[in-house]
Amino acid sequence: MSGTARLEIDGTVYELDTVVGSEGERAIDISKLRATTGYITLDDGYGNTGSCRSAITYIDGDAGILRYRGIPIENLAGRSSFVETAWLVIFGSLPTVEERDRFSALLGESAMIDEVMRKHFHAFPQTAPPMAILSAMINTLSAHDHGVIQIDDDSDMERAAAVLMSKVRTIAAAAYKASVGEPLVYPRYDLKYAENFLHMMFSVPYRNYEPTPEVAAALNLFLMLHADHEQNCSTSTVRMVGSSKANLFASCAAGVCALWGPLHGGANVAAVQMLQQIYDSGMPVSEFVTRVKNRDAGVKLMGFGHRVYKNFDPRSRILKKSVDEVLAQQDKTDSLLDIARELEAAALEDDYFIERKLYPNVDFYSGILLRAIGIPSEMFTVMFAIGRMPGWIANWKELNDDPKGRIYRPRQIYTGPTDQDWAPRGER
Ligand code: SDX
Repeated sequence: MSGTARLEIDGTVYELDTVVGSEGERAIDISKLRATTGYITLDDGYGNTGSCRSAITYIDGDAGILRYRGIPIENLAGRSSFVETAWLVIFGSLPTVEERDRFSALLGESAMIDEVMRKHFHAFPQTAPPMAILSAMINTLSAHDHGVIQIDDDSDMERAAAVLMSKVRTIAAAAYKASVGEPLVYPRYDLKYAENFLHMMFSVPYRNYEPTPEVAAALNLFLMLHADHEQNCSTSTVRMVGSSKANLFASCAAGVCALWGPLHGGANVAAVQMLQQIYDSGMPVSEFVTRVKNRDAGVKLMGFGHRVYKNFDPRSRILKKSVDEVLAQQDKTDSLLDIARELEAAALEDDYFIERKLYPNVDFYSGILLRAIGIPSEMFTVMFAIGRMPGWIANWKELNDDPKGRIYRPRQIYTGPTDQDWAPRGER
């Protein structure tokens, strides 16, 4: 169903088509605006601009709704695995038994990286940021496996998705092992997705790491909750790069770089660092809240606020519950969790945050959950990238499946110097 919007410019009325999505979202189609009016639109940060039509994920920021292919995240949490959710997000429906078995086998067979690639990890300094290694090594995969560069049919797509999802685990764990001076651990075919990652992260030659079922389930849940999230900064980056017909691996490597920023996927580390600083300083939470409100030196409440959610991020609620369960099962407490809870309670009652509709987002509790699982903080954003890989793959696939797809090339309003001439050096 579509309609018409009327725009009056300099006395002339223009009619523009409107578009309505399956959840009633409405848009004005401005694809012919410049040709008919000579005007472009300007929208800092794209807060009001849709870049595409997509059938993958739906968010209602006011109601705090998140659905993957129409299934609410709450219905998947605790019932669906990360691998099953990845299939849903990438291929559009929950996998049949046959599809699930086929994809799991592909993931198991694709877990190893080329033996030559393993040498790269010891060429990085031990202090190298794992996100830099992740992005570099995802691109390197295409140097070793040309079959993932050219994707011509569904079978190629399925294999490329499995290769990327499986090997990103191995690369992440290898980056960690190299950073702590331990031997890289080979994947095992008999382990499930999360368990295999934890094995490669924490097993050593003289002892295999066996995660408790609760830890494995918590990691599965963490990854599933991060699987996709509409046109966020990193997913839009994957689409931007993919729109030039760059291959899946190059596009997702670019997504890793966008996710790295502290305003995006880097917020899970920044949130835990913020909590740790409050704890180490002994500063009352109320004093920190005051600093945030006074905008002292740009202090923000990391893990709070969201461009789309103006209500609770449904993922933060689920993560908070999982933290409680994992810590209870381990008979542990975490002082940072106590501070997080106090901060959340203070912010939810404070007009400064209420007026700006600032609520905990996915990054507020995710770092505390990763701590409880035993993941070191320098790996937190890498974990986000592993979880988001299905969403990046799904968006790249949706973009490339569109026969009318065009290269992304936004316009601008030029504000620089007008017509200038070159001047000889002595006259500058
Ligand atoms: C993710 O897009 C996605 O879907 C992302 C993500 C995904 O799954 O892909 O959900 C993952 O990136 C979650 C967000 C993680 N980032 C953080 O937690 C960093 C802290 N949050 C902020 O930097 C901020 O809230 C953003 C970046 C998340 C959103 O920024 P916006 O939409 O540009 O909001 P804004 O900066 O315009 O803020 C509006 C107001 C401002 O105050 P005023 O100038 O109007 O007085 O709210 C204030 C901001 O100063 N504000 C905050 C704040 N976030 C916004 N004040 C204190 N602490 C904060 N965290």
